[in-house]
Amino acid sequence: MGGWAKEIEEAASILSRSTQAVATCGAGVSAESGISTFRDEGGIWDRIDPMEVGTPSGLINTLERDAEKLLPLFIEILDTFEQAEPNPGHFALADLEDMEILKTVITQNTDNLHQEAGNTDLIEVHGNMFRMKCLACYQTKKYDRKKLIEEIREKLGQIREYNISTLASLAPRCNMCGFITRPDVVMFSEAVQDLPRAYKVSGECDTMLVLGTSGVVYPAAYFPMEARKKGAKIIVINPTENAFPSITDVYIPVKTGEALPAIVNLIRGEAA
Ligand code: APR
Repeated sequence: MGGWAKEIEEAASILSRSTQAVATCGAGVSAESGISTFRDEGGIWDRIDPMEVGTPSGLINTLERDAEKLLPLFIEILDTFEQAEPNPGHFALADLEDMEILKTVITQNTDNLHQEAGNTDLIEVHGNMFRMKCLACYQTKKYDRKKLIEEIREKLGQIREYNISTLASLAPRCNMCGFITRPDVVMFSEAVQDLPRAYKVSGECDTMLVLGTSGVVYPAAYFPMEARKKGAKIIVINPTENAFPSITDVYIPVKTGEALPAIVNLIRGEAA
C-alpha cells in the first residue's frame, strides 16, 4: 500500500460505521482482471475510434464497410472476456455486502464479474455483455459468460466471409421469437439502464465508494455528486486520478484490487 496506510485506515473507519454504503464502479475495477480500460494509456479508445464502434450506426457502418478490420479487436475481446476472473477488488466488494456494510454496486462495467464475485444487489447502468436482447421482441436472456464465448468462437471459426449477416449469426437466436439478438449493452447515444434506481440508491447512501472511473461519462458521473448532496461520505480509489476532488473525503491513489482487500481486513480487525 506504500504510504497510504492512513487513508486506508480512514476509509475502513468510515465504512465500519456505515450500514448503507454504495459503490459506483468504472473500468478500473476490472483492470486487474486483465480487461483493458477505455481511457488509460493503450486503452480501448486509444486503439479504435469510439465513433466507429461505440454507437449502433457507427458499428453497423464499420461492419458494412470493412468487417475484417474489426476482427482482431473482436477476437481480443473474446479472449479477454473468456480469460477474465473476478479480482481481489471484486471479492472485497462481495465481502462488504456479506458484512452488511455495502448495499448496492452500481457499475459501468458489462463483464459480469461483480455477479461472479458474489455481489447480489447490482445496477448495471451500461448493461451486461452476456445478456442477449432480441432485436424484434426485446426479450432478454442471460447466458453463462464462458459457455457463450465458446459457442461464439466455434461459430466464428466456420465463417468464411465477414459481414453484417455472418457476424450477426454469431449471437444465439431469441428463444421466444427466433429473431437475431445483440448483447444487452448500452452504446453511446443509447439510454442507460436502471437510471432511476441508481439515482435513488446514490441519494440514500451514507458512504459512496467511487472506484476505478475517470468520471468523464454521464450520467454515471453524477452518482457521487448525488450522494454528496445528500450528505454521504465520498471515498475515491483510483491509482492515477481523482475525478471528484472537490467532493472527496478520502482519496486513495491505489489499485482497487489492493486497497479494497486491505480496507476489508482492517474492518475485520486483521492487520492490513
Ligand atoms: N484500480 C482502480 N482504478 C484503476 C485501475 C485499477 N487497477 N486501473 C486503472 N484505473 C482507473 C484509471 O485511472 C481511470 O481513471 O480506472 C479509470 C478508467 O477510466 P475509463 O477507462 O474512462 O473507464 P470508465 O470511467 O469506466 O469509462 C466510463 O466510458 O466508454 C465508456 O461505456 C464506457 O463504461 C465506460 C464509460
